[in-house]
Amino acid sequence: MKPKENLYHNSLIEEAHSILRLNDRGGYTVPTERLYPYQWNWDSAICAMGWHHFDEARAWNEIRMLLKGQWANGMLPHIIFHQDSPDYFPNADVWNVPKKCFLDKVEHPQTSGISQPPVLATCVRKLQEAGKESAINSSELKQICMKILKWHRWFWSARDPENTGLVSILHPWESGMDNSPAWDKSLVRVPPTLNSSYKRQDTSLIDSSQRPLQKEYDRYLYLVEKLREKEYDSNKISQDFPFRVIDIGLNSILQRSNLDLLALMDQFGMISECHELKKRIELARDAFAELWDPKHEHFYNRDEISGELIRVSTSACFLPLFGQLANDDQVLRMVSTLEKWAEQQFLLVPSTSPFDTNYEPQRYWRGPIWPHVNWMISEGLKEYGHNELSKKIRMQTLELISKLGFHEYYHPLGESGFGGDSFSWTAAVYLILCKTG
Ligand code: GLC
Repeated sequence: MKPKENLYHNSLIEEAHSILRLNDRGGYTVPTERLYPYQWNWDSAICAMGWHHFDEARAWNEIRMLLKGQWANGMLPHIIFHQDSPDYFPNADVWNVPKKCFLDKVEHPQTSGISQPPVLATCVRKLQEAGKESAINSSELKQICMKILKWHRWFWSARDPENTGLVSILHPWESGMDNSPAWDKSLVRVPPTLNSSYKRQDTSLIDSSQRPLQKEYDRYLYLVEKLREKEYDSNKISQDFPFRVIDIGLNSILQRSNLDLLALMDQFGMISECHELKKRIELARDAFAELWDPKHEHFYNRDEISGELIRVSTSACFLPLFGQLANDDQVLRMVSTLEKWAEQQFLLVPSTSPFDTNYEPQRYWRGPIWPHVNWMISEGLKEYGHNELSKKIRMQTLELISKLGFHEYYHPLGESGFGGDSFSWTAAVYLILCKTG
């Protein structure tokens, strides 16, 4: 690793700026060239925070562009296809979202038909707190908050119709952690697509040892076909839909965003909206107790079809720290698990526990470290007063980036970076972490 003083090197800060500029497509940022040629939901929220360090106006544009993809029912899709990129698979034609889903039936960008972890409200609050008053006027900010609340309401109604406090995902892509081993057992119920002629583009750009397997992709595609058949309408998607999971990562991020949205709306005196948010925050807080496994002293995801906890330890299982959802004892247990991993020379935080049989240090979400997840975990630890561990995660992330470059994900032994390079949210996280110190 490089010596510490190089971590905040001006040339690296400059490089981070250039990456965001390079990936700018006129108001929105693609995650990286070719591999991901559109606007992705949680990537963009994180990128906006990166932009904010050197161009506040551009940061707010990122958010405006993202919200252009919002559906009439409030859903904010995981991909906004602002322009066509025919090589990408699955593109807008594959999702084939019916016109009636869009708010403006005439002028709207094409989108995917599922959502992604809703970190946007948290990012908007960070922008507002750190920004100049002139960067956005309060009536627009209020409108942005209302749009985000509409999105969160969609999660509560479409993905938690029984009002349990926990929302489900219907596709691994919705977790943002596509091929996490946490989904393996649930994916067994999903048959492969019958479409044998589709062509994945990712493995022609990135070594297949760093990407999801074909058998997983075939199932991802089957789920898209099923959702498309039902026109993405939660009333038509039956209870026997083959993939239904409580993703602890997404639920933690949603809780954190609800707290941040509450703080923003409180400033505007939006009393009934604040009341609604508080109720939901309480409900989720109670429901989270069910995701804690006292025997293993660990939070887990839950399969909604079997009703069982999914006892696979992943980085998402530490996101309740970010959502402020853990009690003191649970926080101590999580800290001690992370410290154990670190004692064994693993950099923090591998996306899958290095002691899990499914751990693969270079395959996407099955082991590598992802900088934006580190940012969320380190934020959570700081808020619980675990400053040392929080700082360690920040420093290790900066070291990885400064030593290996702006990759999509990294080997937990710090040997190499993988996936796409000149990666936008890695650049954004570098800027955020440099500032945090
Ligand atoms: C992959 C990641 C997802 C991310 C997207 C664009 O699909 O799993 O989290 O949003 O790439 O970077």
